[in-house]
Amino acid sequence: MKELKERILREGKIRGHNEVLKVDSFLNHQMDVAFLQAVGQEFRRRFDGCQVDRVLTIEASGIAVAAFTAQAFDQAPVLFAKKHKTKNIAGDVFLSQVESFTQDKRPYNIFVSKEFLHPGERVLLIDDFLANGSALEGLIDLVHQAGAQVVGAGIVIEKAFQPGGERIRAKGVRVESLARIASMSEETGVVFCD
Ligand code: G4P
Repeated sequence: MKELKERILREGKIRGHNEVLKVDSFLNHQMDVAFLQAVGQEFRRRFDGCQVDRVLTIEASGIAVAAFTAQAFDQAPVLFAKKHKTKNIAGDVFLSQVESFTQDKRPYNIFVSKEFLHPGERVLLIDDFLANGSALEGLIDLVHQAGAQVVGAGIVIEKAFQPGGERIRAKGVRVESLARIASMSEETGVVFCD
């Protein structure tokens, strides 16, 4: 997606060599709503013809992207996996453990209520970043636990130098990333795969 790549080049802040890309000005902190709407429409274009009953993401940064994507898919309901158990979540949940590579490698649980994920549903996964892929693997696990089907995964920014994309595609899941980064450093800037 040309507009996304331009914004990454213009506004992205690179930390270290192939470490972290900060895009706080339009995606991860301040959010550009018109841009997010275009992102949603681009996912609709890429997954056009696919039946999508539900959009599933993970808190926090995936939620806005998922909401605009769902709007582009005729208002499909959005469900976000929660990371922290609260008293408000009633009844049974599907639960999966996610390895974390950025939080001292401590695994954490994600869950959704069984009330909102049903057998036979066709679920589109959405997230802002794909790095090691563990969050996405957790979401796939939740969908399978429910007896639902993964339509594919829409990712805004894939760090293609990390193994997540390869791992998820090797499972047979269609991954559509709007920008794929081959490498990045303060010296070279961001280099895209295509
Ligand atoms: P993974 O989900 O692909 O396995 O990624 P990893 O464990 O490596 O990353 C953990 C968190 O950091 C995820 O957010 C992921 O989206 C985010 N992340 C990874 N690389 C980058 C990066 O280069 N830039 C930015 N801005 N984020 C990155 P999260 O834990 O779900 O947190 P949240 O921000 O959505 O709340």
